[in-house]
Amino acid sequence: MVLPQFPAGFRWGVSTAAYQIEGAVHEDGRGPSIWDTFAHTEGRVKNGDTGDVACDHYHRWPEDVALMAELGIDTYRFSIAWPRIRPTGSGPANVAGLDFYDRLVDGLLERGIRPLPTLFHWDLPQALQDLGGWMNRETAFRFADYAAVTAARLGDRVKSWITLNEPIVHLSYGYAFGMHAPGEALMFDALPAAHHQLLAHGLTVPVLRAYGAEEILISNNCTPVRAASESAEDVAAAEIYDAFHNRLFNDPILLGTYPDLSAVGLPNNPVHVKPGDLDIISTRIDGLGVNYYNPTLIAAADAAATGLPFDFREIEGVVTTAFGWPVVPEGLTELLVGLKARYGDALPPITITENGCSTADEPGVDGAIHDVARIDYLYAHISALHEAMAAGVDVRGYLTWSLLDNFEWAEGYDQRFGLVRTDFETLKRTPKDSYHWFQSALIAQNKD
Ligand code: FCB
Repeated sequence: MVLPQFPAGFRWGVSTAAYQIEGAVHEDGRGPSIWDTFAHTEGRVKNGDTGDVACDHYHRWPEDVALMAELGIDTYRFSIAWPRIRPTGSGPANVAGLDFYDRLVDGLLERGIRPLPTLFHWDLPQALQDLGGWMNRETAFRFADYAAVTAARLGDRVKSWITLNEPIVHLSYGYAFGMHAPGEALMFDALPAAHHQLLAHGLTVPVLRAYGAEEILISNNCTPVRAASESAEDVAAAEIYDAFHNRLFNDPILLGTYPDLSAVGLPNNPVHVKPGDLDIISTRIDGLGVNYYNPTLIAAADAAATGLPFDFREIEGVVTTAFGWPVVPEGLTELLVGLKARYGDALPPITITENGCSTADEPGVDGAIHDVARIDYLYAHISALHEAMAAGVDVRGYLTWSLLDNFEWAEGYDQRFGLVRTDFETLKRTPKDSYHWFQSALIAQNKD
């Protein structure tokens, strides 16, 4: 399975997130985050798992950086834990927390790996949640402050930044449906949490630039939305879902407008959107991070029965991952070509900042992990990405989720997304077959 050749300078990498890998939750002055609270609340996370230890990356990062160097990647996307930097949400920065990321950044640069930190991957300081979390407009300003102290320390070496990870997933799972921290089930009343995340993003762009950022992205989870049938009702429901999942976060950033949600009775000028906010939110960025996992199939729903104006349907006739997610590589081509068609010149260069799959692999008798399904997945998705580029979409990099098996949010340690297996008893890392495949693929890409 030989990949098509990508242009010189195309970036290859892996992605992780702080709460999913670091552990060391009480160390060096870190404060509690909403994920500590949530995971320690009975019944919230499968098997009662928590991120207390996770992959112990906080102590084992040199080994993990060595694994990345050996893999041959040039970019590492990780996230910075806000509660390590601002343990109580405001006040002076926690220097020991900054020191950790300082060491990590130096360790990466020594190995020739570009650090690409995400400033918010869902681990809000609990102290800010106590004041309303993202429902409180003030949180956006606290975020910009935290970004400033972090960039002041790292900005001499870190030139590329991601502001937020998947605000749609944090909004929907965290605030609308309650499956993730902070566990609120506000349904459409959660929308201020979308706006305040976007405002946080926009406020932070000039802050990062002031500290020398050359490249600023946001990572949006994007899904191509398909209607379950050609009926007018299903098509209308699919359009509404597309507006919520994709356009709610891409339109304000790229166009400076919100999608029209009046079809579901939501006002076009809600009170939480203040004059000037959309100008801040649409401050120019240098790239769009796209996280792609699968398309979404939507049918009309009986809103009175479900509370939602759309119904999720299963995509039939395709392989699924261990998580049950449909494997549809051509959905990535469809998504990227669709983004280009929708936004045209307003679409900045794209980097795939997440794409990957969970597999139920166990070591074989030979001790190796033959995760053939992951190799197939990566090959098919990277090829689909190449097709989108051949069709004229400007894509600059591909980062797979994830380096290591890690704490998969509400699924705990049950879903394994890593190129490297983590034994959660011993914390031993074992590269899987997919790691070796990716390594050879990168050697082939870089041979000239
Ligand atoms: C994404 C998250 C990431 C990981 C993958 C599987 O939505 O950004 O942290 O959990 O899903």
